[in-house]
Amino acid sequence: MTQPPMTHPDVGKAIAEIDTPALLVELDALDHNIATMARAAAAAGADWRPHIKASKAPALASRLIAGGAVGVTSAKVSEAEAMVDGGVTDILIANEIVGSTKIARLAQLAGRARLCIAADDAANLREIDAALAAVGATIDVLVDVNVNMDRCGVPPDQAPALAQLVTDLPHVQLRGLMGYEGHVMHLDPEEKERETIAAADVLQEARALVEAAGLPVGVTSGGGSGNYWISLAQGHLNELQAGGGVLFDRSYEQMGVRGHRFALLLLSQIISVPDENRAVGDAGWKATGRHTGLPLVHDRENIEVVGLNAEHTIYRLAPGVDVKPGDQVTLIPSYSDSTVLLHRQLHAVRDGVVQEVWPVSGAGRLQ
Ligand SMILES: Cc1ncc(COP(=O)(O)O)c(C=O)c1O
Repeated sequence: MTQPPMTHPDVGKAIAEIDTPALLVELDALDHNIATMARAAAAAGADWRPHIKASKAPALASRLIAGGAVGVTSAKVSEAEAMVDGGVTDILIANEIVGSTKIARLAQLAGRARLCIAADDAANLREIDAALAAVGATIDVLVDVNVNMDRCGVPPDQAPALAQLVTDLPHVQLRGLMGYEGHVMHLDPEEKERETIAAADVLQEARALVEAAGLPVGVTSGGGSGNYWISLAQGHLNELQAGGGVLFDRSYEQMGVRGHRFALLLLSQIISVPDENRAVGDAGWKATGRHTGLPLVHDRENIEVVGLNAEHTIYRLAPGVDVKPGDQVTLIPSYSDSTVLLHRQLHAVRDGVVQEVWPVSGAGRLQ
């Protein structure tokens, strides 16, 4: 007999009763962000396959799919395994899958899910095909095109040969092309637009060459949260990978992402007020991440994060601010991508009450 899922003891509690530090997901803000991105993709005639490398929680991924996503994008095989274990079974692993151990793992997972991967190397594709043959499974492939990011991916003129190889191998199927333009995300608006257009042109060129070789390009995939509205406007994508914008954070705000709400909040607590100018909280960089900067205080005025130790937040207090040990403070993380992976669970809250607790089962899945 199947056991009903265990309800987490925090469900139904008020935020004031949650032990800190804890990550909160504001459901109203999350649903707003999901609807915003799903609508943008649909309006541009593209499917939305959001990247879950920041959120890492299958329950959140399922919410994305319920909100209009066709599936999800992950960075790693093990991250995809966590998704499949959590019931999410349509996954693009937007990365090169290299090495016999990892490829064997991919082949096992292919029997449990509808998978697609990125590839930019002929020998790698042959190895993947052989591993899939051994287990009798197939997967789809996007030929990875370097759209000026200079990370992985082939130049457009090499895309037809790889696409032909995928077509010829029996256990991999050509789904299309991927061109992720991560290099544009932090550029200023004008430059970002220019470079997004340049990246789109490279992917279009690859598409034209592959089609001229007589091969169908079903999917063209790319776009990140930092430029998705510009990318969609080019009309060259029919699948959008942008996903982090559903949580939204200071980094995305600094990248010029507009119309989103802060859905990810770090609940913390003041543990000491040593003098009138300084308070200390319980969320250090082991709770916030330290990749891109300091978190911002969300729910209080005149108190500012000025430093992070491993386990402590250091606050500067404006004159006369009333702060005492035990006070809760919610923080907006600097970059959700480097925050969520430090936590075991996300508390999904609405109107100040915990509705659900979602395991972050993709955390630590780096393989
Ligand atoms: C391959 C790929 N696609 C898409 C994204 C965009 O992710 P996000 O929208 O979460 O910023 C990234 C970000 O690193 C990526 O590496």
